[in-house]
Amino acid sequence: MKQGRIFSGMRPTGKLHIGHLSVLENWVRLQDSHECFFGIVDWHALTTAYDDTKSLPDHIMDMALDWLSVGLDPEKSAVFIQSQVKQHGELHLLLSMITPLPWLERVPTYKDQVQQLKLQGKDINTVGFLGYPLLMAADILVYRADTVPVGVDQLPHLELCREIARRFNYLYQVSLFPEPQASLSRQEVLPGTDGRKMSKSYGNEIAIGIDSNELAQKVRQMVTDPARIRKDDPGHPEVCVVHTYHQFYAPEDVASLEESCRAGQIGCVECKKQLTGKLEEILAPIREKRKSLEQKPEWVKEILAEGRKKATLEAEKTMALVREVMSVGW
Ligand code: TRP
Repeated sequence: MKQGRIFSGMRPTGKLHIGHLSVLENWVRLQDSHECFFGIVDWHALTTAYDDTKSLPDHIMDMALDWLSVGLDPEKSAVFIQSQVKQHGELHLLLSMITPLPWLERVPTYKDQVQQLKLQGKDINTVGFLGYPLLMAADILVYRADTVPVGVDQLPHLELCREIARRFNYLYQVSLFPEPQASLSRQEVLPGTDGRKMSKSYGNEIAIGIDSNELAQKVRQMVTDPARIRKDDPGHPEVCVVHTYHQFYAPEDVASLEESCRAGQIGCVECKKQLTGKLEEILAPIREKRKSLEQKPEWVKEILAEGRKKATLEAEKTMALVREVMSVGW
């Protein structure tokens, strides 16, 4: 017997990087204890990338490949594309009738993001972007999910989702929607190879499907203690990106590495080789799986079609109830 129902999603904006791994590992674990729905939320991607949509199909395929290669299992979970389950859109529309505009305008980060993107020359002063958290609420509520694995940055959105669920239940005097709770995963604050936030736009990311040569190169590029010129100069691990990675991926080795570094007994080249080895251990199986899936795009599409069926079945059950409760559609 499963403990509850989960929905989570990610926007298809490009290949995932190792900063996403802990979130996905949480999803993989939850598959055994919960009934899981995982959506590639392409409508959400459109809220900002509405003017350049050509690469969306490739991004969706990349996301499916990444998810499946880290262990999302179509036998256990529904893995699907949001826009293929139209009930998300219908629920978004119906919920928009009962959602006070100020609730959306007051979402922390909303005004900030509009302004931030404006500085980058991008106008997201749109109904679609304002409705982002409402669409997210529809994603969750259409499955009547009770648990949502997300990062802390999404907590305000989840709070809004609960408020909307409560308002619906109150207005129509039903208890149709549960108020979903967050399942927080350990959040990685792994920097990119240059020490800044990891992001594809900086070119400092390590994709989870990266090949061996590229991986070694990315690690070689990692920024280390700039005060270290010769390899026997004493190092300062606290300012070294490689050290941050060791802390994360090789906690058992970090104390001795740190000691050798401070004593000038291990050079950056050697230290980086060790890190490459560690990352290779973690990423090699993912890469192999991804490579074999890349050869079978038709099979991946079948998985998504199957996921769509499973998801539609459950979403339609909810929508039948919602329409009845709201007396919509006769
Ligand atoms: N907004 C989420 C993010 O950027 C993605 C998302 C869309 C989502 N719908 C969701 C997450 C529903 C959890 C549940 O990470």
